[in-house]
Amino acid sequence: MRYQKIDSQLFIENRKRLRNHLKPNSVVIIHSNDIMPTNSDGTMKFKQNSDIFYLTGVEQEETILLLYPDSKEPKNREVLFLRETNETIMTWEGKKLTKEEAKELTGIENVCWLSEFEKIFRTVMCECENVYLNTNEHKRAVIEVETRNARFIKRCKEEYPLHNYMRLAPIMHKIRAIKSKYEIELLQKACDITDLAFRRVLRFLKPGVMEYEVEAEFAHEFIRNGAGFADYSPIIASGPNACVLHYIENDKICKDGDLLLIDVGVGYANYNSDLTRTVPVNGRYTKRQKDVYNACLRVMKAQMKEMKPGKSIQELQKYCEQNMEKELVDLGLLTMDDIRNQDPNWPAFKKYFMHNVSHFLGLDVHDVGDVYRTLEPGMVFSCEPGIYIREEGIGVRLENDVVITDTGIDDLMKNIPLEVEEIEDIMNYSR
Ligand code: GLY
Ligand code: MN
Ligand code: MN
Repeated sequence: MRYQKIDSQLFIENRKRLRNHLKPNSVVIIHSNDIMPTNSDGTMKFKQNSDIFYLTGVEQEETILLLYPDSKEPKNREVLFLRETNETIMTWEGKKLTKEEAKELTGIENVCWLSEFEKIFRTVMCECENVYLNTNEHKRAVIEVETRNARFIKRCKEEYPLHNYMRLAPIMHKIRAIKSKYEIELLQKACDITDLAFRRVLRFLKPGVMEYEVEAEFAHEFIRNGAGFADYSPIIASGPNACVLHYIENDKICKDGDLLLIDVGVGYANYNSDLTRTVPVNGRYTKRQKDVYNACLRVMKAQMKEMKPGKSIQELQKYCEQNMEKELVDLGLLTMDDIRNQDPNWPAFKKYFMHNVSHFLGLDVHDVGDVYRTLEPGMVFSCEPGIYIREEGIGVRLENDVVITDTGIDDLMKNIPLEVEEIEDIMNYSR
């Protein structure tokens, strides 16, 4: 693995948090993700299921975690099943976890090969009452492909129709929303690598470079630091491309006088950062670009001050929209008449600011968490206002990642250049 080994204590604690939410006499069974096929004999890069990673730290395919805390048989209380390796796998794919290594990584005493699953599964099903199974319940997920977990749910219901089946997802959403100190350290590490790469790009960027060359600079700095891109395609959008929210072609030339919107994140030890900065390709913002930029920055700063325990995500979104509305009027983009006559279902500001200002962040970029739960210490969010003026070919978004503390926030990206002057200074110092 490319990241510093995670202490098994993190996963032991995470399993304890899960156990505290289970009904008596319950079994939990979670499967890893599939290796997804492409064409011919090709496969996509393996991405572990975030829940099984959270509970075990195992990044290997075909892994199963079985928890049965009330089992009368102590060795069945926590069982990890792994794909058994052999000479052929060793030759073609390299090293897989041994039982000893898995035990050290996860803190689980009973590590078995997959061939032992059927017998133990049968035993625990004949003893337990409730079975918690894992479904993807992110509200915005579009699921067309049946996952390993989904196939297993079908199988369970067919073979054991009279058990009480329970949803694991709400519990995972609840516990994963509050990050432990260790998790916050990992997120900070992801943010620090993002910082290094952003500074590298500030020194690199000039008129004439391609957007994908900027992407390559990020890739270089991320990989040399034992990380990679976060789980979304980087957005490197110059000029009018910045008004396309999910622009990922990154194939245009960065032109003199244009802005470049950069939305990139690091994936480090499966924890994600999510940064957006908007910088001038030639090293100097024009008056108009600076005005739009600073309007967005004021909204962001006000927002970060407002984020604290007890606030709801809905009221924070509303607060952001009200501040944004004022700025849009001051920028001459909206009139008071536009606001008075607006359709309440599509308020006028939405022409220029049409997305949410925050999302949970963690093992997933748009991390799991209940959007109706008020903010609590340990939650991690993005804060990302944006102003997109298609008619002027200007798009500005700024995005930092913050942890909720007892009194407000800790900004994990406080070291990443944000003020106009600082960005211009770094860009021009190296010219
Ligand atoms: N880049 C995805 C997001 O900012 O939410
Ligand atoms: Mn984001
Ligand atoms: Mn982003």
